[in-house]
Amino acid sequence: MRHRFHALCPYFAMFPESFAETWIERLTKPGDLVLDPFCGRGTTPLQALLMGRSAVAGDINSVAYCVTKAKTNAPTLAAIRRRITLLESRYDSAIWEKERLALPQFFRWAFTSETLRQLLYLRTILSWNSSKTDCMIAALILGSLHGETLHSDSYLSNQMPHTISTKPLYSVRFWKERGLRPPKRDAFELLRKRATFRYESPVPDKVATVFHSDFRNLPGFFKTRSSRPRCVITSPPYFDVTDVEEDQWLRLWFLGGPPRPKGGNGHGDYRHDSRAAFWDFISDMWRSMGLLAGKKTNMVIRLGGKSLDPTEIVEGLKATSIFTRRKVNLVSQEISEIKNRQTNSFRPGSKGLAFEVDCHFLIN
Ligand SMILES: C[S@@+](CC[C@H](N)C(=O)[O-])C[C@H]1O[C@@H](n2cnc3c(N)ncnc32)[C@H](O)[C@@H]1O
Repeated sequence: MRHRFHALCPYFAMFPESFAETWIERLTKPGDLVLDPFCGRGTTPLQALLMGRSAVAGDINSVAYCVTKAKTNAPTLAAIRRRITLLESRYDSAIWEKERLALPQFFRWAFTSETLRQLLYLRTILSWNSSKTDCMIAALILGSLHGETLHSDSYLSNQMPHTISTKPLYSVRFWKERGLRPPKRDAFELLRKRATFRYESPVPDKVATVFHSDFRNLPGFFKTRSSRPRCVITSPPYFDVTDVEEDQWLRLWFLGGPPRPKGGNGHGDYRHDSRAAFWDFISDMWRSMGLLAGKKTNMVIRLGGKSLDPTEIVEGLKATSIFTRRKVNLVSQEISEIKNRQTNSFRPGSKGLAFEVDCHFLIN
């Protein structure tokens, strides 16, 4: 059975666990350290733990951090059940009414009044940054916050895609035109059900170190030679493909963000603007890898972009690898046409990605 933590919450431009599994198997031995500095939903570190490796991961995005931390530092099911019971016993619906009324109209169309009051309470009370039990509970909510309610009772919202949060005006128009009302859901009850489902897979024996951080801060963590990774398996942000902050705005709201999409990538430092900015970003990635990689470190990169062709991607990666200030060899490259385009499920009807490139480098 596929490990149930893998699909805890979907993520934009996520890669399948088979990608991580293949490369971990090929390039590492049990006990080796695997790093993913752009970990997204945490597939590389979780798969590494499941295969007896150690793992370090990082991501600048709160949703990515929360989901990765939850699945690689999982509490016991008993601890989650106890915490849900405590949270429920302390919940006082009336307290949250004023805050509910102050939210934009999107929220009143997306959730019933009671579900929304529960979400406001949980969003305030969960210490997902510091407690592993609260982190898993927050990740379970993120995975159930919105989705195809007409076909499943696993989601808290009115009909929405599970993958991305649609924009407020579009969503409200969509619901009004179709006469769609939010479903009656009890967040505590749903949490218990989803936790039981996810924990049908055993919790990994080991835990990963996860950073909520820009990748440029990672070299400071790998101070001693023995702490350095043997292998990096990662997928940096793609050129001109998805806007992290916008596509996940509702999940980011649950984790403490504003009640509307922010627009822009929110980090102000990469890709949508120009090719030059994108390759500067990738140069920074190489610079950091040069500082933290051990001797003979394998680095597998999956990369794509709507307006970059595969040759430009491979040549760009090779050219920017000089920023490691180390000798770097391209060992193999594989170009795949994306038939089942992931971006289609992120932005229905969008042109999507034509190609992805997998490059395996050796940093000497
Ligand atoms: C292509 S996605 C990775 C998806 C991941 N492989 C998965 O399967 O879910 C790229 C990730 O890079 C993260 N990111 C963007 N800029 C970053 C930065 N400066 N430092 C660390 N992470 C960053 C984004 O938040 C996003 O999660």
